[in-house]
Amino acid sequence: MGAGMPSSSHVPVMLEEAVQALAVQPGGRYIDCTLGGGGHARAILEHSAPGGQLLGIDADPRAIEAARTVLQDYRQSVLLVNDNFVNLQAICLKYDFFPVHGILFDLGLSSLQLEPEARGFSFQYDAPLDMRFSPEQKLTAADIVNEYPEEELSRLIRKYGEEILCRQIARRIVQARPVQTTKQLADIIEKAVGGRRNAKIHPATRTFQALRIAVNGELENLESALKQAVGLLGFEGRLVVISYHSLEDRIVKQYLQQEARGCVCPPNIPACVCGHKAQLRLVNRHVIIPSPEETQRNPRSRSAKLRAAERIAITEDCPDSEDELDFFASLSSNGWRRPSLLRKIRVAFATA
Ligand SMILES: C[S@@+](CC[C@H](N)C(=O)[O-])C[C@H]1O[C@@H](n2cnc3c(N)ncnc32)[C@H](O)[C@@H]1O
Repeated sequence: MGAGMPSSSHVPVMLEEAVQALAVQPGGRYIDCTLGGGGHARAILEHSAPGGQLLGIDADPRAIEAARTVLQDYRQSVLLVNDNFVNLQAICLKYDFFPVHGILFDLGLSSLQLEPEARGFSFQYDAPLDMRFSPEQKLTAADIVNEYPEEELSRLIRKYGEEILCRQIARRIVQARPVQTTKQLADIIEKAVGGRRNAKIHPATRTFQALRIAVNGELENLESALKQAVGLLGFEGRLVVISYHSLEDRIVKQYLQQEARGCVCPPNIPACVCGHKAQLRLVNRHVIIPSPEETQRNPRSRSAKLRAAERIAITEDCPDSEDELDFFASLSSNGWRRPSLLRKIRVAFATA
């Protein structure tokens, strides 16, 4: 999400649109993979009452604490897990939380993470170059900025920031090492870019985005988590993703489109050899974006894109462990619609 003024609470983006796209229903079971300040989670719980249940995940322990307060009224119906959504399937297996009616990803950063004392995500405040979602991660932005060879740094800024001035920026960074803080880095980038840019965004925006994506392995984690999510949905369950930049949106769009198709063989092959079967139906023909009122009210929403898909078919993956065998067996029919598959789930208001 783009940087902006800090606020003590995160304003959820496209809240109504997300609840609608998830087709939240009373008694439904949902996963919020990016809990943040708990805004979407709370709306899901409101709409799924009575009887709704929510598994909320966030890599950032501060987000879990913030959400715990916001979701206090629903503490009997919520399980909060401080983990990375790249472990989505393992988390659901551990807590016996599947199949589900809907899964939400609201990617990027929450306002909490952009605040002054936060961990170096924003160049608007001077802070050490950290940018880890979780303090348990090893690699920091300072490690990349100070240790990567110039060529690799340049490639990373290009790939994850889509920054055409990556070479100049990487060269200046390497010359200025050691680079310790966000302000120092932003100044170096401003000098590297010089007068070559009259864009609306700050010259450091793309480089900061690139570093954050690299530190947190954001794109790889998203690709992996989307695949896991589809396998956790019951029949007609919904997958909803809100993304904030083109790299994320491209992954989401391509994955949903691919899983909404049957055969994915190249067009020049006479007969299908891939055996791919559609698992999803796209809910909307076009991407959903925030209304002009919302972007005016909440400038952080301006780059948001929402995509949604519905589970239509049975997973036919080849499980390779006993646990997975059980897991897929329980999903391999009409999800929660079969009474025998309405598993009793353990629900507790606790951080795992
Ligand atoms: C835009 S915020 C979510 C805001 C939330 N929907 C709300 O209404 O308050 C994104 C959150 O996702 C978390 N996050 C990003 N990538 C993650 C990952 N791979 N695993 C777990 N949490 C992640 C961030 O720590 C952040 O708290």
